[in-house]
Amino acid sequence: MDIAFLNGSFLPKNEIRISPDDRGFLFADGIYEVVRWYKGFFYDMTSHMTRLKRSMKEIRISWAEADTFPDIAQQLITANNLQESPSLVYLQVTRGAAKRTHAFPFPSVTPTVYAFAMSFRPDSITMASGIGVSMQKDIRWSRCDIKSVSLLPNVLSFQEARERGNHECIFVRDGLITEGAHSNIFFVIEGVLYTHPESENILSGVTRKNVLRLAREAGIRVSETALPESGINEIDEAFITNTSSEVAPVISINGRIVGDGTPGRITTILQKRFSGEILAMKV
Ligand code: PDD
Repeated sequence: MDIAFLNGSFLPKNEIRISPDDRGFLFADGIYEVVRWYKGFFYDMTSHMTRLKRSMKEIRISWAEADTFPDIAQQLITANNLQESPSLVYLQVTRGAAKRTHAFPFPSVTPTVYAFAMSFRPDSITMASGIGVSMQKDIRWSRCDIKSVSLLPNVLSFQEARERGNHECIFVRDGLITEGAHSNIFFVIEGVLYTHPESENILSGVTRKNVLRLAREAGIRVSETALPESGINEIDEAFITNTSSEVAPVISINGRIVGDGTPGRITTILQKRFSGEILAMKV
């Protein structure tokens, strides 16, 4: 039986009840985080905590016990017997339940805090061989830096990419490539690694940040500069990053082969450095 967390209690997931007046349900008025459990530790929990608090601050939700999340996540892993499984812990914090009106509830209500853990199988075949992505218009709002649960544009765009036989949708806004529907994107041109700079147009990915650090440590030249859509013709390599896929090579964009259609040299170096660091954390 799955055990999940709601507002201070650990309960069988199928017994969890959330109010139909919850603003997460009515307005997508909330934020979330996803952390990865590597059979013994959570990957860079510190950065996830920083981003969680930033997201809450930006949308003016205050969950006073936010610092208890690492402990909640650990307890979910234990309660669900996931210690030895690669897993993800999902956390969602909404503004709480109140009579429906656009304004924040007054007097204020306590936020709804929901979390669950799930085992997941990393797709090692895809990680090794690479994925196809499609480029689509960025139909999201102008605060993509907030990890908001309001993901309808991401859902619709990702589904469209799927229906075109691809594994991710890459967004283009004002002629510039921003990020994926649930990942950040990197390109390599003549040995230089490019990715969109931190801004309101992308989510500051925890994996993105660590991959940039690993690249600099490896002596790879890095430029946090957005690639114009037309720049796609110049690229030698591409890859996406996120908590579940780590570094996933991109081997085709809109059906057009990237490089020689296999994971590129710098992509492979970064994949190895990323997994090497995880292995070293385990001891
Ligand atoms: N998505 N950009 C977007 C829009 C994302 O949704 C995500 C993560 C990322 C990568 O962030 P990170 O490296 O911190 O996982 C970038 C998560 C995994 C999700 O929605 O499930």
